[in-house]
Amino acid sequence: MKRIEDVKLAPSILAADFARLGEQVAEAERAGADRIHVDIMDGHFVPNISLGVPVVQSLRQVTELRLEIHMMITDPDFFLDEFVKAGSDSFIVHWEGNNNLHRTVQRIKTLRKQVGVAVNPTTPAVVLEEILPDVDQVLVMTVNPGFGHQSFIYSTLPKIKRVGQMIERLKPGCELEVDGGIDATTAQLAVAAGANVLVAGSSIFGAGDGICAAMHRLRSAINHDGLIQENGQRSVLKQEGLCNLE
Ligand code: DX5
Ligand code: ZN
Repeated sequence: MKRIEDVKLAPSILAADFARLGEQVAEAERAGADRIHVDIMDGHFVPNISLGVPVVQSLRQVTELRLEIHMMITDPDFFLDEFVKAGSDSFIVHWEGNNNLHRTVQRIKTLRKQVGVAVNPTTPAVVLEEILPDVDQVLVMTVNPGFGHQSFIYSTLPKIKRVGQMIERLKPGCELEVDGGIDATTAQLAVAAGANVLVAGSSIFGAGDGICAAMHRLRSAINHDGLIQENGQRSVLKQEGLCNLE
């Protein structure tokens, strides 16, 4: 069984309140976020548009955390330099729609940034086999990319397991990240299947009791020993001074 400290949390700012983005990222950082997940969409690769380079530039001023850029755009290669200049630390590019994935991955490595490859829910694990030795992380999408607040797709669980086995065989140490519909329940399932980085948007930034409590809830859920019921958890967080719940 994985323990809390083995699993990293990557809050996705797509669900943040953009009028208070700096504050909310700072709160996530104080609450122990491992990195900040930034979703870039262009209305072509996915049917939605989101953020761009200026947001990354601003975030760079307010956090030391790794800024992980999830590129949901056609031709990610065209924008890599700009995002690097803005202060990005790592890139996740999709297998889907990229006819020259090896070239994109090598370009990112030349820019001395960490690189990950993402696969959509129905893309089979086997497509990762040849690219795996070249990447630092794999991202298994657990919803169809493009929107926050969607429900976790359970049929991705056996794939997470298969990707984990492939990582053991071909690239031990490569991160296995999941993205979409991650809350306290699905986090537990994804970690049990082999994930070690959890992207979470609405379950962190949309939580009624705040970012800190939400992150604590996710951590508690993945550490079976630490599983605490919600009411009990609020008082533990308060007693230990971990979160300001007023
Ligand atoms: C979806 C994005 C996700 C999104 C997850 O295309 O890649 O990172 O922010 O949001 P939740 O956690 O709300 O499903
Ligand atoms: Zn994402």
